[in-house]
Amino acid sequence: MLYMRMPAMPSSVKAQTPFKNLEISAISQKAVETGRNNALNLWVMGAPIDQVLCALVSAIESACDDLQCSIMLMNADGKSMCALVGPSLPEFFLNAIDGLDIGPSVGSCGASAYSGQPVVAADIHTHPYWKPFRELCQQANLRACWSYPILATDGKVLGTFGMYYSTVREPSEQDLELIRTEASIAALIIEKMQASEQLSQAKTALEKQVQQRNRELDKSNKQLRQALEQRYEVQQHLLEIENLASMGSMMSSLTHEVNTPIGVAVTAASHLQAQLQKSRLLFEQNQLTRSALKAFYDESAEAMLIIERNLQRSAELVSTFKQLSLDQHNQQPRTFNLSSYVCEILLSLKPKLKKYKLQFCLELDPDLEILSHPGALSQILINLIMNSAMHAFEPGQAGHISVAVQIQDNHLELRYQDDGKGMTSETLSHIFEPFFTSAKQRGGSGLGLHICKDLVEKILHGSIRCQSAPGQGCQFVVRFPLI
Ligand SMILES: Nc1ncnc2c1ncn2[C@@H]1O[C@H](COP(=O)(O)OP(=O)(O)O)[C@@H](O)[C@H]1O
Ligand SMILES: [Mg+2]
Repeated sequence: MLYMRMPAMPSSVKAQTPFKNLEISAISQKAVETGRNNALNLWVMGAPIDQVLCALVSAIESACDDLQCSIMLMNADGKSMCALVGPSLPEFFLNAIDGLDIGPSVGSCGASAYSGQPVVAADIHTHPYWKPFRELCQQANLRACWSYPILATDGKVLGTFGMYYSTVREPSEQDLELIRTEASIAALIIEKMQASEQLSQAKTALEKQVQQRNRELDKSNKQLRQALEQRYEVQQHLLEIENLASMGSMMSSLTHEVNTPIGVAVTAASHLQAQLQKSRLLFEQNQLTRSALKAFYDESAEAMLIIERNLQRSAELVSTFKQLSLDQHNQQPRTFNLSSYVCEILLSLKPKLKKYKLQFCLELDPDLEILSHPGALSQILINLIMNSAMHAFEPGQAGHISVAVQIQDNHLELRYQDDGKGMTSETLSHIFEPFFTSAKQRGGSGLGLHICKDLVEKILHGSIRCQSAPGQGCQFVVRFPLI
């Protein structure tokens, strides 16, 4: 018999096989309660779903004569079911129905799961839905089967609750009420347990994902650390190159500067040589007059003076450059005249600044002697001047650079100012960072001001700051304590 709606039941069915069990209500009530309590206890203790549902059906089985229950669970495909629980049903029967496809006329449970409605077969021998399973049921001694769908709160079929009897049996209203109640408890348990199972699966998947992310993060942290170390090494290397480059440019300045006096001295020496030969020839020919000898003496004296002066200039230049390069090399403090030192630095930069039209204004006490690190100071000034030349002015554009020095509270304050194009606040905020350059295409390394800051802080133990705005030029203020 098939009931498509609950609790309505055709009267013809009732008349066919009358079923009387007056105590069922009280017993089943008790059984439902026991089963529910047992199941809930097990559930709370974390037992697996089959054990929990087994407790539910065992209680009701023990309360009713000749009753064997089953709970079938819908598979994930939504087309077949597995036999989850059937504590009293023979194993061969459970194995046979396990995995069966559901369908409009597949036994009671298959049909109930398919339609989402209760399906009652009061007599398996005559019920058309059971035709393919009659022999199996005979072996298992099963004659009646009432099945009720286990529905989720959203109406989805989760499985079926089946009640089997060994005799032909029609359910009473109370039986149907009992099976409905059991199915709804099973629904509650299955739905909640599946949800918590899904939750724990999601949690495990999430944990796995987090672990994977952590591993990836560790790996990229390691790579980052390596990259930073490499970057530091490259930076150190570049600093050395930059220092060597400034030394190299000083050597080329020296060669250039020394060329002129030496050239003049050489010319004077060859002129002297020629005059000497000329006067010796006149002497050997007895034609050397007194006036010719006097002229020779005068010219010789003049040439000697030129040679001496120019050789002296060369020697001075060489020692100046030697001192500059020594200072840059060993960064040792010594007492020196600041004004002459700045002039020497400008001299060393002369060949490099030839293509720029820069005018320098020095506001410096010519007698100011300080005890400090001349090497650091020269490197800082060279970087600031070369930056003005490279970044502040267009080639050929006239520019003014002023260097002013003040001493206050045993601190020296050097103000360096150009009247070039200045920089934006964005550029200004990055200028002391290593490798920051707005002139990559023109060979800027972005290390100049970083080196300046390093020297000011680490060698001079002072500070450097910069003020600038577009069109307003640049002003650097270097302040450090005198030793
Ligand atoms: N006098 C200046 N006028 C305008 N911009 C400047 C000046 N000095 C430095 N800058 C800016 O600061 C940046 C960083 O300078 P620096 O560290 O010396 O690196 P680099 O000269 O190799 O570019 C320059 O690229 C430029 O944008
Ligand atoms: Mg620079």
